[in-house]
Amino acid sequence: MKLFIDTANLDDIEEIASWGVLSGATTNPTLLGQVEGDEDEIYRRICEIVDGPVSAEVVAGDVATMIAEGTRLAAIHPHIVVKLPTSREGLSATSALARDGIRVNMTLCFTANQAILAASAGAAFVSPFIGRFDDINEDGLGRLAEIVEAFAASNFETEVLAASVRTPVHVMEAARMGADIATIPPKVFHQMLHHPLTTAGIDTFNEDHAARLARRGA
Ligand code: E4P
Repeated sequence: MKLFIDTANLDDIEEIASWGVLSGATTNPTLLGQVEGDEDEIYRRICEIVDGPVSAEVVAGDVATMIAEGTRLAAIHPHIVVKLPTSREGLSATSALARDGIRVNMTLCFTANQAILAASAGAAFVSPFIGRFDDINEDGLGRLAEIVEAFAASNFETEVLAASVRTPVHVMEAARMGADIATIPPKVFHQMLHHPLTTAGIDTFNEDHAARLARRGA
């Protein structure tokens, strides 16, 4: 499973990219609202940092404007993937953009049937949301599993991009069920890495190394 980062914060993207674990990035209007600066410039900078697909979301509501906005976003950088909602208008715009060779990530996907429609419209990625199901006391991972299973049994080329990831368990379970990608907030990357036994082990090894040097008078 490939790991994308789910943020528009350049410092966080640079930090996690320096670990060598990133294959792409996703943004949305909420995440962009949390950072300062020109949107196109932020997209361009993310594309320079991350060597892979970078999702930039369209905010238009009608098909013609979605296509125009998506075409404009895709021209910013070859890494840009246009993000569109899983709606009637989003499907029409996705099929038009896909015909023009522009990659689309269909977002706000909550069911296997929505994912099947997104794939059939030519989306390169479909983003089932996990956490927002959990927020309303439903099983987000269970819904993701239905989509992964349906796609494994079909011949869709669309990649399943697990989104609305809120915990390290979401990441681990998405990998276990065979999702193609998980897009992960910076905080969850840190949670995935941390283990108290690793920290304690590093401290002990450093102390033992220092004690050995001290005994030798170094
Ligand atoms: C990414 O593509 C999605 O926009 C994002 O994962 C949504 O996450 P949230 O439900 O935590 O806002």
